[in-house]
Amino acid sequence: MDPNASGLAMRLAEAGQSHLLQFWKNLGPKEQADLNHDLQGMDFKEINGFFQKAMETSSSSKQEKMDARMEPVPREVLGSVTRDRESLKDWELTGLHCISQSKVAVLLLAGGQGTRLGVSYPKGMYDVRLPSHKTLFQIQAERILKLQQLAEQKHKIKCCIPWYIMTSGRTMESTKEYFSKNNYFGLEKNNIIFFQQGMLPAMDYSGKIILESTGKLSMAPDGNGGLYRALGNQNIMDDMERRGVGFVHVYCVDNILVKVADPSFIGFCVKKGADCGAKVVEKNNPTEAVGVVCKVDGRYQVVEYSEITLATAEKRSADGRLMFNAGNVANHFFSFSFLKDVVQKYEPQLQHHVAQKKIPYVNGEGQLIKPDKPNGIKMEKFVFDIFQFAKTFVVYEVLREDEFSPLKNADSQDAKDTPTTARHALMSLHHRWVLNAGGHFIDENGRHVPAIPSLKDGTDLPIKCEISPLVSYGGEGLEDLVKGREFHPNVMIDEKGVHELVKNGV
Ligand code: UD1
Repeated sequence: MDPNASGLAMRLAEAGQSHLLQFWKNLGPKEQADLNHDLQGMDFKEINGFFQKAMETSSSSKQEKMDARMEPVPREVLGSVTRDRESLKDWELTGLHCISQSKVAVLLLAGGQGTRLGVSYPKGMYDVRLPSHKTLFQIQAERILKLQQLAEQKHKIKCCIPWYIMTSGRTMESTKEYFSKNNYFGLEKNNIIFFQQGMLPAMDYSGKIILESTGKLSMAPDGNGGLYRALGNQNIMDDMERRGVGFVHVYCVDNILVKVADPSFIGFCVKKGADCGAKVVEKNNPTEAVGVVCKVDGRYQVVEYSEITLATAEKRSADGRLMFNAGNVANHFFSFSFLKDVVQKYEPQLQHHVAQKKIPYVNGEGQLIKPDKPNGIKMEKFVFDIFQFAKTFVVYEVLREDEFSPLKNADSQDAKDTPTTARHALMSLHHRWVLNAGGHFIDENGRHVPAIPSLKDGTDLPIKCEISPLVSYGGEGLEDLVKGREFHPNVMIDEKGVHELVKNGV
């Protein structure tokens, strides 16, 4: 294990990273073994190459130049749940048919660290305090289960939607344990496939890898675009091929309204013969933290919120709307063959993006320093950076209030995208489902509550309504339960029926 004898010291010297061994002699045997293990598994030449390329492309002058080359998404590739109402049913039926043939898989990106939310466990295990206390993972699992049932009922054939879950070194064990403890929420264990994305070291501005303690490198997941490398090196594409998967819906863990394997979205993409598609909502505030789908030099791309300049984000079209308003909700469609090409051919061409961060480090004396301004970078690939390789790319526009409410930040005054906003978004949607299915809400005096109740700042929702995904995937099938009935403003509908809840007892 001696770094000189094993050649490790030499490899590090050649890559300009010898400082990683500066405390070697002070480490105990276990720490030495761990550090040796971590370093032996790393390709320093490759990492240095990533650093150089990432720094070159992230310079601000390049960014400004890119702004000048951006164009909005052209109308001909856009489908919309509001403008194309007459086609919706057809798209949904097409998607449901694909699902019934077990051709559709879902792939969850759950390797993030949830830094902004400030929890130490995987974000999917977060309970936003719905009446049922279901977590994001459970809600998604039950939607998959329900959709399988809907496709089976419609086509009288047994089907399965395999669920691929990408975790990182930090979230793998706890995620697996959580699913196992909860009996996979009623799904078949064999149809949930966990795999792990890679990690990369944080580096200072001169390209030196940062030590977070005397015997440990500062490591972070390599971004949700680490997906493609992981799909290849963990044989996930082979698994998809064996199962006959033709289409994959890739999504992020944090959107409480996510329509996993959304039949309409899948059907739209399939009908358009697309190999790649993105779901968007209208971005209506220039500083909202969503990427925008657009074209750059004639190729499709998402320009991330951290990379667009304010001047471009604020540009407006003649109708007063933001010019770049195709807000990325991190729901993507890929055909299997496109994904396979990406994994086999294009992945190495993807460049890392740079995030400047305050990264705790040990100084030359071995003391831990917590910097108060950015001192280095983390490098990440982004999942949507493969759009540029698509032959037929389409964009599907949905309504924010029906499909997008991400959980990013902890609750606090003025914070956006919090547990409270996520809970409210889900319950408002379910409230509307009840109204659309012919139910009514009444107040304590027996009067009908207005369909759009006024919500004063700082107050809780006047109507609390939660519907289990096991009862309804997207608002369907509720008439028998609610039509013509009156409910008090606290109601939960699950497989066992309709339950009125005690006020504030949720
Ligand atoms: C992401 C999108 C952004 C979009 C927004 C919508 C990316 C790169 N950006 O931004 O365009 O408008 O969501 O909410 O997709 N993850 C991993 N591995 C990682 C890092 C993240 O699997 O190494 C996963 C997270 O677990 C999460 C998802 O990727 O499910 C998005 O990560 P997050 O950092 O929250 O993305 P945003 O910056 O909010």
